[in-house]
Amino acid sequence: MDRSRQQPRPGALCRFFCLHLHGLAGAFCVLVFGVGWLWTLLFVGLSALGVRDLRQNRHAVLRNYPVIGHMRFLLEYIRPEIRQYFLEGDNEAAPFSRAQRSLVYARAKGDSDKRPFGTQLDVSADGYEWINHSMAPSRIESQDFRITIGQTGNGCSQPYCASVFNISAMSFGALSANAILALNQGAKTGGFAHDTGEGSISAHHRTHGGDLIWEIGSGYFGCRDEAGQFNAEKFAANARDPQVKMIEIKLSQGAKPGHGGVLPGPKVTAEIAQARGVPQGVDCVSPAAHSAFSTPLQ
Ligand SMILES: Cc1cc2nc3c(=O)[nH]c(=O)nc-3n(C[C@H](O)[C@H](O)[C@H](O)COP(=O)(O)O)c2cc1C
Repeated sequence: MDRSRQQPRPGALCRFFCLHLHGLAGAFCVLVFGVGWLWTLLFVGLSALGVRDLRQNRHAVLRNYPVIGHMRFLLEYIRPEIRQYFLEGDNEAAPFSRAQRSLVYARAKGDSDKRPFGTQLDVSADGYEWINHSMAPSRIESQDFRITIGQTGNGCSQPYCASVFNISAMSFGALSANAILALNQGAKTGGFAHDTGEGSISAHHRTHGGDLIWEIGSGYFGCRDEAGQFNAEKFAANARDPQVKMIEIKLSQGAKPGHGGVLPGPKVTAEIAQARGVPQGVDCVSPAAHSAFSTPLQ
């Protein structure tokens, strides 16, 4: 590599030299008049920092702007807070805007969540959708909208009357025991179903007895043999559990295509190992593809 290209630019040297001059002037005052040692200490420190900045070749900004270049890192550091507290609009930001978060905080504390004088949203913007009141409202029998899954006539002996509002698949392991307990208690109280996710059914899913959708992925957790292959007896044992209302087969690893997923060994606790039927402390792999079938039609 051409070493001359690694030398600091003349502008940077000039800026640094000016700073250095302050240090030298300070040292002169201390030596001759015996005053200003605090300032001298400060400028000697800054000079040392400047030398370090000029000598390093990791950050171009520090090499070109020794000492003062650190301001950029400071500003980068506090950028999220500056945006959040001063610049961000109430209805900006994803996945949840400040207005949405405030609503949740207010409700969680039991404070009023009402804001007078109408909405702050641009309701005439493209893509804004709403439902109008009907001129002739009708009476509905129940507000508990449900959909029956499985028909007795089609050989289903236990149809399930599912809520339209359920808890999507999140494994025990990806979520903590307390999170699983809370979600399942919510499902029990609200009369909806809790999807186990690939991590199978743990003791925490059973504590409150909320309806379960048992998800089976490519790792066959909860229904696998020691080699990780599908095991019909273990499947039948879990499938017969009255709390399990539906079984979902996850065909592939949508979020990790081609790779599959892994729960690292140190995270595979005794509880997780027991729920999944895998050895404790060993990496727990959800392969990219199923071993029991190779197409959804099989
Ligand atoms: C912590 C966590 C664990 C998840 N585990 C699973 C899983 O085991 N199986 C699955 O099919 N999806 C899993 N998902 C995906 C969710 O079920 C859901 O599809 C995804 O989060 C998108 O929905 P959202 O936009 O409401 O978050 C998981 C998501 C999260 C955040």
